[in-house]
Amino acid sequence: MSISFVHKLDFYTMFSTLSDSAQSALAETFGVVDVEVKWERPQDPSHGDAATPVALQCAKKAGKSPREIADRLVEVLSAESDIEKAEVAGPGYVNIWLTTDALIRTLGTVRSACTAKVKRENEAPVIIEYSQPNIAKPLGVHHILSTVIGQSLANVSRHLGYNTVTINHLGDWGTQFGKLAVALEKWGEKPVDVCTLDDLLELYVRFHKEVENDPTLEDAGREAFRKLEEGDPDLRKFWQSVVDITMQEMQTLYDRLHITFDYTQGESFYEDKMQPVINEGKEKGVFIEGEGGALIVEFSEESNMPPAIVVKADGATIYLTRDLATILYRVSTIKPQAISYVVDVAQSLHFKQLFATVEKLGWDLPRLEHVVFGRMSFADKSMSTRKGNILKLQDVLDEAHKRALIVINEHGEKIQTDDVDQLAEIMGQGAVVYGVLSQNRKMDMIFDWDKALSFDGNSAPYLQYTHARAKSIVEKAGGLEGIESIDSLSTKERLVLNTLLQFSGVLHDMQRSSMPHILANYLYELCRDYNSFYNEDPILKADEPARSFRVHLTNLTADVLKTGADILTISVPDRM
Ligand code: ARG
Repeated sequence: MSISFVHKLDFYTMFSTLSDSAQSALAETFGVVDVEVKWERPQDPSHGDAATPVALQCAKKAGKSPREIADRLVEVLSAESDIEKAEVAGPGYVNIWLTTDALIRTLGTVRSACTAKVKRENEAPVIIEYSQPNIAKPLGVHHILSTVIGQSLANVSRHLGYNTVTINHLGDWGTQFGKLAVALEKWGEKPVDVCTLDDLLELYVRFHKEVENDPTLEDAGREAFRKLEEGDPDLRKFWQSVVDITMQEMQTLYDRLHITFDYTQGESFYEDKMQPVINEGKEKGVFIEGEGGALIVEFSEESNMPPAIVVKADGATIYLTRDLATILYRVSTIKPQAISYVVDVAQSLHFKQLFATVEKLGWDLPRLEHVVFGRMSFADKSMSTRKGNILKLQDVLDEAHKRALIVINEHGEKIQTDDVDQLAEIMGQGAVVYGVLSQNRKMDMIFDWDKALSFDGNSAPYLQYTHARAKSIVEKAGGLEGIESIDSLSTKERLVLNTLLQFSGVLHDMQRSSMPHILANYLYELCRDYNSFYNEDPILKADEPARSFRVHLTNLTADVLKTGADILTISVPDRM
C-alpha cells in the first residue's frame, strides 16, 4: 500500500474521538459529566504524543483518586485502534502514544493547514484596524508594532477563512494641521507641495519651540484649523498636499514591510459624520453638559473612569468624537462581527471610555477589542539617542539591511545567493519584524540586533536558513516519490512529525488570542526539531522507504515554515 498525503483524517477529529471515548468512560464509570477532555503535548517526547490531565481535574467530582480514574482511562483508550500504548504518569496524567499509521495518516492535515481556507462569505466580517499613523510626521520605529502585529493578525484571520477587512485609520485631522499651516507661512522656505516629510517635521518642531516664547501662535494654529474645518479652499489644498506627501513616503515603507489595507480611512473621513452621533447622545441623555458648556460622558462609579469629553467648550470635536462616528459608520456599512484596534497600551483609557460610551448609546454592537502592545526599546543604546526626537522606521530598516549585509559577508561560502542585496533586504526586514513578533506583545519588548540577526537563535535568519536548507534537500532529492508504508519511526522523525501536526492548532490559537508570538515561537521550535532530525538521521543517503518519507517530512517542514513566515509578513528565500 502506498501512503497518499491527502486529507484523510483530521488530527483534531482523531483527538475528539479519543476525547469522546474518555468522556463516556468518565460518565459511565464515575458518573462525571460535563468535563472536557483536553490533550496537551508533553514537554518531553519520551512521555508520549499527547497527554491529558482530566483525571486530576475530575477526581474531586468523582470522589475517587486521580490514579483510579486514570487507570480506567488507560484501559478504555488502549482499546482504540489509533493508540499504540496508554500509560498513567505522575499523580494521574494519562499519556498516549499514537500508532505510526495514525500519525502518518494525519500528515494530510498539515498539508491542508498550509493552504488558505476558502473565505466564509456568508459570515459577518471581522475588522482589524492597525498602523494608524499621524499624518505630517515620518513613521517612527514604534509604528512598526501596530503595523506588523495588525498585519499578521489580518493574515492569519484570512488564512483561516474569516472574512477579514483591514483598515488604516490615519490621524489626518486635528489642530496639528493648523499649527503646521502657521509654521509654513511664517518660516517655510518653499511651497508645501515640494516639501519632504522631513521639512514638515522640521516646521512642526520649530512651531513647538517658538510657541514657548510666543503663546499667540497657539491661537493662530487653532484659528487656522477652524478655517480648515470650515472648508477654506487654500487650507484644504494645503492639507491635501500634506496628506499626499506623507502617504507617498509611507507607502514605500508599507511595501518594504508587506503591509496592505482594504481601506485607508482617516479621521478626516468622519468630519461630516459626527453631528448625528452628537445629536443622538444628547437625545439619549448619554452626553451631558460639563464644565464651561463642554459635552461629556460620565461613567459608573465601579468603572473607575474619569468623565470623557465628547465636544469641547469651544465647540470643537476631538479624537473620541471621531472614534464614535467611526464605529457607527463601520457598523452600518460593513456590519462586522468584531472590530479589533491594534493600538499602544497607552491608549487603554481612551478605548475603555469609547467602548463604554457606545454601550451606553445602546447601539447594536460587534465585539470590540483593544489589542494592546507594550513599548519597544533597543538593547543597543546608540539607536535610541539619535538626533531629533524620533527614530525613523526607515532608518531602522536601512540599518537592518546594512547589518544583514555584514552578516552575509561574514558567513562567506556558507550562504549562497544570486542577489546579495535582495537577500540582505529580506533578512533585515525579517530580523526587525521577527524581533517584534516573537515577543509577547503585552509586555515591553527589547530589540537586540545581535539576537535578531543571529543564525542559530530564535531569529528570522535562522528560520530563513532552515527553510532554504529544507528546500535544497527536496530539490536534490529530485522531487517527491510516493512512499511505501512505514513500520516504525525514528525518535527524530516522530519529533518533527508531532511538531508539524501542531501547526493548524497553533494558527487557531494565534487567531483566537491575537498573539503572533505563538506562531513565531512555534516556527522556531519546528526549525530546532527539524535541524536536530537533519543532524541525526540521514535523509538523501537513507534507504527506501525511509528516504522518501524523510524527503516528504522535509518538504512539509519547508511548506509550514513558508506559510507561517508569510503570515508573519516575513519572506523566506528558497536559496541562501
Ligand atoms: N492615530 C492614533 C495615534 O497615533 C491612533 C489611532 C488608533 N485608532 C483609533 N481608532 N483611535 O495615536
